[in-house]
Amino acid sequence: MRGKLAVLGGEPVIPAGMIKPWPPIDDIDRQYVLNSLEGNAHSFGPNCVELEKEFAAWNGNKFAITTNSGTAALHMAVAACGCGAGDEVIVPAYSWSSSATCVLHHNCIPVFVDIEWATMNIDVEKIEAAITEKTKAIIVVHLHGLPVNLEKVLALAKKYNLKIIEDACQAHGATFKGKKVGLLGDCAAFSFNQNKCLCSGEGGMLVTDNEEIYRAARMIWSFGETRTPVESRDYHAYALGWMYRNNDLTAAFGRSQLKKLDQYLAAQQENAAVLLEEIRNIPGLVLPVEPPGYKHNWYNFTVRVEATSAGYDGQPDEFRDKVLQALQAEGVPVGIYQRFILPRMTVFQARNAYGRGCPWDCPWARKVVYDPDDFPVAEKHARSHFGMTYPLRLPNGPEVARQVGEAFRKVFDQVSLLRDVPLKG
Ligand SMILES: Cc1ncc(COP(=O)(O)O)c(C=O)c1O
Repeated sequence: MRGKLAVLGGEPVIPAGMIKPWPPIDDIDRQYVLNSLEGNAHSFGPNCVELEKEFAAWNGNKFAITTNSGTAALHMAVAACGCGAGDEVIVPAYSWSSSATCVLHHNCIPVFVDIEWATMNIDVEKIEAAITEKTKAIIVVHLHGLPVNLEKVLALAKKYNLKIIEDACQAHGATFKGKKVGLLGDCAAFSFNQNKCLCSGEGGMLVTDNEEIYRAARMIWSFGETRTPVESRDYHAYALGWMYRNNDLTAAFGRSQLKKLDQYLAAQQENAAVLLEEIRNIPGLVLPVEPPGYKHNWYNFTVRVEATSAGYDGQPDEFRDKVLQALQAEGVPVGIYQRFILPRMTVFQARNAYGRGCPWDCPWARKVVYDPDDFPVAEKHARSHFGMTYPLRLPNGPEVARQVGEAFRKVFDQVSLLRDVPLKG
């Protein structure tokens, strides 16, 4: 028996301050950000131009457009792929909300597909049944940094003449059959927010190899204009545009972090491998997978729990919440990514994004309703998962991964005691 559980008053496995926050900041970051600050171009400036070039080169894309968020890049992708009023876009039933609200932003209708239990990604075997004559695109989300199996999706896209948009917001550097995400579909969106593997505070990037998509996305990005603010502008709105541009300070931070991204990703992969080894064969703990041919970036190390196999006689989600509480007390910063599957969220249940029922009640639309019971795998996942991000990232090393493993074993060795732990509100 390991020591007394911290949630019951014992000593935590991980002392306060041992796990360092994300991202590590050094003199390269200070130099880039201060140079930008002391320059005289603070909106879309030279660091934005360079970040676009450097990120495109890093990922191997022909074109890149830097944005003020990943969500902006997703909306640009939906619009630039030619989706419009009443068109349907297929999205996974479990993801971040804006993987699906980006569809609403362009007056289109998300159609959800359940996820696959093992990978937590869209179930590619269930996509075809969701395709209708209104379908224009499929958004695949490489959730938690594990790529979607694009082989099957590409075949469907070809058969039905659909565009593939990759939501790669969490998946920098992940690969499928040796190809980086962002190179697999027609275009892709990355996020650079606080938690992401490349953090510049906020920010994002749309990448594509398709010049037509690139040109359309550039217009939507900046007021419907055709030229960037560093070119000579004619200040004419050629199309409906937004203001999705990045700014120079943020881009400067993004550039300095990009220099270290490969090193960050290698460390995450090494730390995740250590943790996987530490917590292998714990009854009731379902570990994340990295099937052959896939390279995970381990953005989020997500596990699922099964109360019965762990020897806990209580409700499955109560068990998950108690394990979470016990691990947090041991000093492991674990959390629940999303308690709700997307079709359950009020924005979709209310079917009234733009008022007067639009886009669902627009004359161009087919009737689409959302029944959460259609997505049993996503529901089971939402009730049983939790995960972590920065404990497995630099400057944290394998010693932290080993301590995290120790905390898991301590909690799972004593699951019967969790029965008496009151759940925090
Ligand atoms: C899967 C996924 N899609 C989209 C986004 C949106 O990115 P952002 O917060 O930069 O708008 C995020 C991040 O929050 C995400 O995790």
